[in-house]
Amino acid sequence: MKITVELKPAGQVEAEALIVPVFEGRRDARFGAAAFFDSGEIAGKPLELTLLHHAPGVRATRVLLAGAGKPEKFDAAEMRRLSGAAVRYLKAKSIRTVAIALDPEFAGEDFASAAIEGAILGDFEPDRYKTGDDKKSIDGFALAADTPGLEAAARRGRILGEAQNFTRDLVNRPANRLTPLAMADAARAMAAEFGLECEVLDRDRMEKLGMGALLGVAIGSAQPPVLIVLGYRPATAQGSAHLGLVGKGVTFDTGGISIKPADGMEKMKYDMAGGAAMIGAMRAIAQLRPAIRVSAFVPCVENMPGSRAQRPGDIVTAMNGKTIEVINTDAEGRLILADALTYARRQGCTHLVDAATLTGAVVVALAHLNAGLFASEDGMRDRVLAASRAEGERMWPLPLEDDYKEYLKSSFADIANVGGRWGGAVTAALFLKEFAEDTPWVHLDIAGTAWLDEPKPYLAKGPTGLPVRTLVRLAMDWKD
Ligand code: BES
Ligand code: ZN
Ligand code: ZN
Repeated sequence: MKITVELKPAGQVEAEALIVPVFEGRRDARFGAAAFFDSGEIAGKPLELTLLHHAPGVRATRVLLAGAGKPEKFDAAEMRRLSGAAVRYLKAKSIRTVAIALDPEFAGEDFASAAIEGAILGDFEPDRYKTGDDKKSIDGFALAADTPGLEAAARRGRILGEAQNFTRDLVNRPANRLTPLAMADAARAMAAEFGLECEVLDRDRMEKLGMGALLGVAIGSAQPPVLIVLGYRPATAQGSAHLGLVGKGVTFDTGGISIKPADGMEKMKYDMAGGAAMIGAMRAIAQLRPAIRVSAFVPCVENMPGSRAQRPGDIVTAMNGKTIEVINTDAEGRLILADALTYARRQGCTHLVDAATLTGAVVVALAHLNAGLFASEDGMRDRVLAASRAEGERMWPLPLEDDYKEYLKSSFADIANVGGRWGGAVTAALFLKEFAEDTPWVHLDIAGTAWLDEPKPYLAKGPTGLPVRTLVRLAMDWKD
């Protein structure tokens, strides 16, 4: 999708359709909208869409009046949804060139960026494996602006939207097409394109490093594991902080010997969504160039019940020397993250954020609206929450109290990999804390938010690409 900024009145922009946000309780007199407000046909409610032909005073072939809700509630997140819903509506009608008229009251950089992000995100379809020739997409999206200076915001919006779709495309790939090695190839190609350092650790390296927890998960599969490391260095760093982004990259989770039920198991191709989000975030970071050093660490494995697979009761030794009793082989995410966290610390990361589709329990706790957020200290919690709020990617803090460690006691090893029936998201986070040790760290459990089971007006069904934007904002806004 080609993104442009057109510095002219919206009415003069040429496009097959011009999106015009209209607000609740505010009778809009532009482009023939007044009559619709007067007749009660339009109220301006969020995402209410009305398509007009031959609207007066516009060059565009059509006008799409797009409900924006109450003006006092309108923010960048609403703008993103509005533009996404409008784009999805228009492309279903085979329209290919679209412009959006920024309302003068909501024409700041965040709104401009969000309008573009929404359009790019709305245009994404998880249809890469459909062979039909009836695929629809938007070719051109223009921002009609009355005031100059929105180019940088437009660029940022494009970079963020494309990075998030890059992540969604990775998550959308099924496990036969996205093996750990294929994920490393995708990361390598991306790094080469955008000038990031990239190193891929193979099984031999991991054995030498003593990554017994990660390797224990990988052993049941014929697909070899990898640890993908991506590095970004600012030209001039503002401080000494080094942010480490660690993401769960289980390309398929059968559960292993503690095998999952068949019903719905196909969805477990998305168990690498945390890792894909880190790779997507690095793609944007490489282009937006924050002043902080950032590295990503993505352990990729396939969790399979092969004849060499680890068994319940097995005891593995993690890279930091701790022994783990594997009570349930389906709690594999925390095992691979354990060694990735240790490795990130040894590489000099001063602050860590991990994202993982880690537990079904977090979906029970927060449904699909909020990711679970666990923080080892308030400073990191506040940084990540501020970024998540600014980006409209919702997260909710859950407890990380040491008292919960009780549940992870093992009679035979230093720690067990599961903590019993209750508080599953909390005990999983507490397990990870043993490996983040004293490094300021936030864990995001995205099991409920990385995948949409039903489409939204502004987003297709399938991978959401969360929390790419939050991570990028965290790096961009970093102050030591
Ligand atoms: N990948 C799953 C978590 C998951 C479950 C994500 C359902 C999305 C939907 C993870 O590896 C897992 O299987 N976790 C177990 C942990 C349990 C064995 C302690 C779970 O949540 O059931
Ligand atoms: Zn599992
Ligand atoms: Zn898993």
